[in-house]
Amino acid sequence: MASDGAKVEPSTQSPAEHANALAGSNAGTCKALAYKLKAEAGRRGMNVHIDHLNSIGPGGLPRDRAVAIITASYEGQPTDDASFFVEWVKNASVGTQKGVKYGVFGCGHPDWASTFHAVPKLIDERLEECGAERIVERGQGNAAAAELFDQFDEWKAGFLRETGGDAQRDAEEPHLQAEIDSEIRKNMLQQDSLKSCMVISNEVVSKGAVDIKRKLVLKLPDGVEYRAGDYIGLLPANPIPVVQRVLARFKLHADDVVTLRGTAGSWTLPLNMPISAFDLLAGFVELESPVSLKQVERLERYARKGSDDAARIDRYCQPDVYKQEVADNRVDLLSLVEELTTLDMPFTDFLIAMPSIKMRQASAHLSSSKPWH
Ligand SMILES: Cc1cc2nc3c(=O)[nH]c(=O)nc-3n(C[C@H](O)[C@H](O)[C@H](O)COP(=O)(O)O)c2cc1C
Repeated sequence: MASDGAKVEPSTQSPAEHANALAGSNAGTCKALAYKLKAEAGRRGMNVHIDHLNSIGPGGLPRDRAVAIITASYEGQPTDDASFFVEWVKNASVGTQKGVKYGVFGCGHPDWASTFHAVPKLIDERLEECGAERIVERGQGNAAAAELFDQFDEWKAGFLRETGGDAQRDAEEPHLQAEIDSEIRKNMLQQDSLKSCMVISNEVVSKGAVDIKRKLVLKLPDGVEYRAGDYIGLLPANPIPVVQRVLARFKLHADDVVTLRGTAGSWTLPLNMPISAFDLLAGFVELESPVSLKQVERLERYARKGSDDAARIDRYCQPDVYKQEVADNRVDLLSLVEELTTLDMPFTDFLIAMPSIKMRQASAHLSSSKPWH
């Protein structure tokens, strides 16, 4: 049998394995359920090897361990990584799968009523006809409903009960630990005195040509006192569409992870720590401040000599053009580098050119009751 579909795990199998979980999955649901089975089995002291259905050779399913088959149907057909297996199982001869112990869990969607669970049903029935021993009734998961995971948990419990390993051992609850640091951004930005607080609401009250006025309702942290007329410092984030423009200009994805290395202490960027490109751009640099004449002049180094972009930069560097077309219109560096498409500016140079994000100040208009307005 040929093999198709991405390998889920290397197929090298150690003798300590108690079961195989074979997934047939296009969009990942069945594969995720196979991993859920493996995790739960692991907590019971059992080792489950995961692979895709097409990894099965012409001899059929292994006989030295139980086999869980977790698969879906698409228009009544198998997933790409189960196509050869399904073809094989359709044609397998009666009696050839004696000694195999198996269970099938299907994921299906009732919108495909005439072929609901067609593939898991076919596999389950054919394996039995070929002499394999069904150790647990076929599970019928409804991918359209929240119960899918409960349905799988019930089937999984049955499968594990019938399988080797220390089935008596109670499964431990899965656990995770999280270390949360709320100080990193403000410390990097040298704004150590800021404290986190909850924003109850954030409403735009007026929009000028340059500024937007907002009304914020905040729940102050315990111990913070205020009076009407006090100022409060706020650490903002750049608007998502602006961050997206930078990502597009520098051909980055929002979830690319960036680790900046440089001279410690020389700028307020997060050095030596992995951070998503989105968080870096949203939280650390001021993306919309007007570009200075010096910054425009520095762009020359990234332009090809004699190019249109080099000529444009030259023009913008003339003081009267700079004033009328750039400064008076509050053009920012991002808009310029978007316009100058052939500019070969490294992302790190763009970051260095940007001022660090500034604290905004808001005045307290009401002091009568918390939350604070
Ligand atoms: C285009 C399409 C066709 C589908 N056809 C069927 C079908 O014939 N029978 C069925 O029971 N479910 C059908 N489904 C539902 C999928 O089998 C179900 O969403 C399943 O959980 C997908 O598993 P996977 O994420 O592991 O690929 C279909 C879903 C899509 C998107």
